[in-house]
Amino acid sequence: MGRDFGALASPGIRGLASYDPGHDIVALRNKAGEQGLLELGGNESAWGASLLAMAALRSELQTLELYPDPRGGVLKHALAEAFGVPREHLLLGNGTHELLMQIAQVFAGPERPVLVSRYCFAVYPLAAQAANARLDVVEALPKDHPSQPRGHDIDAMIAALTPAHGLVMLANPNNPTGTWLTTDQIERLLQAAGPDTLVVLDEAYGEFLALPGCESALSLLSKYPNLLVTRTFSKLHGLAALRVGVLVADPGVVAVMERVRESFNVNSPGLAAAAAALKDEAHIATVLHETAGNREALAIELKARGWFVHPSQTNFLLVDFGTPEAAAAIDRGLLARDIVVRPMRGYGLPQCLRITVGKVEQNARLLKALDAVMAEAGLSAPGAGASA
Ligand SMILES: Cc1ncc(COP(=O)(O)O)c(C=O)c1O
Repeated sequence: MGRDFGALASPGIRGLASYDPGHDIVALRNKAGEQGLLELGGNESAWGASLLAMAALRSELQTLELYPDPRGGVLKHALAEAFGVPREHLLLGNGTHELLMQIAQVFAGPERPVLVSRYCFAVYPLAAQAANARLDVVEALPKDHPSQPRGHDIDAMIAALTPAHGLVMLANPNNPTGTWLTTDQIERLLQAAGPDTLVVLDEAYGEFLALPGCESALSLLSKYPNLLVTRTFSKLHGLAALRVGVLVADPGVVAVMERVRESFNVNSPGLAAAAAALKDEAHIATVLHETAGNREALAIELKARGWFVHPSQTNFLLVDFGTPEAAAAIDRGLLARDIVVRPMRGYGLPQCLRITVGKVEQNARLLKALDAVMAEAGLSAPGAGASA
């Protein structure tokens, strides 16, 4: 047996399991049949990137020998305008994944535990453990909650907060549940957090949240210096391949984070494409409109088959198939038909699958395949009991 180099790793990393990326997409693409692989596992955009973003990226190809702008000037300028904040409030990341890991590296540790909710985004526990910080997990709302099944229980999170907590990490809306929080709930959490506890509001799907009383936490930044908001270009903007995320926070937070930022962490095509994407209002409007419409249409179809569909304000749906066996059989059956969705074992929800909302024809292919899988496996839906 080879040497256990894990024993030489820092304490947090010793017991750490790396991020589980789900199915091997490249292998599946290579073996897919004529119809091609339908990729509904990664919450990527079925509408692709903006044409303006692609044109901006293409012009960067003339200068690939040069390092990217370490200050990210062009993108920060565009973000400052879009978010209405001075650029000292902005820190760019190689995706928000990088930013979340760095936030924990900087602000969590053995004496500064991290507070999260059950069914939070999988990177938060990883980030806490890599920082050698204790993770306190607050129980989520129950599955039969009338509006936010398995959503974050803000009152329980507030009750669990202590002045020692270095970080609270939560997503709004949340992945994998799709559930959301109101501005009022977020404000209550911020009021309860002590001045030394930083609250990270991950808005990877924030643009999709379109309900009254649910504003972006960006609107709260001037009031709460301990609020950190992250946004990504991977979802709405369809630029996941380029890895661009942004942290919006107090300039003091940004200045400390700059100490650990790798100097050229965002590449030139990413910087240029992201800046252009922000300006493509028509593309943004199309993606938002079609995602919301297709999501609701898909949810109706899934519920009609008797499955429990969690309400969602994102570009995906979390579907509960009743038992781990049923979910696994459906996952296998879909894979056999070249359709990828996301198993949820790693999130402690083995009876669920997470399904990215696609274009109309993609959702139709998914539903047809689901019906075939059900018939083939002799599975029957658990019956009516679907959520609103
Ligand atoms: C809640 C949440 N935050 C952050 C991310 C990471 O996004 P990025 O591609 O910017 O690293 C994801 C990706 O799925 C996510 O679901």
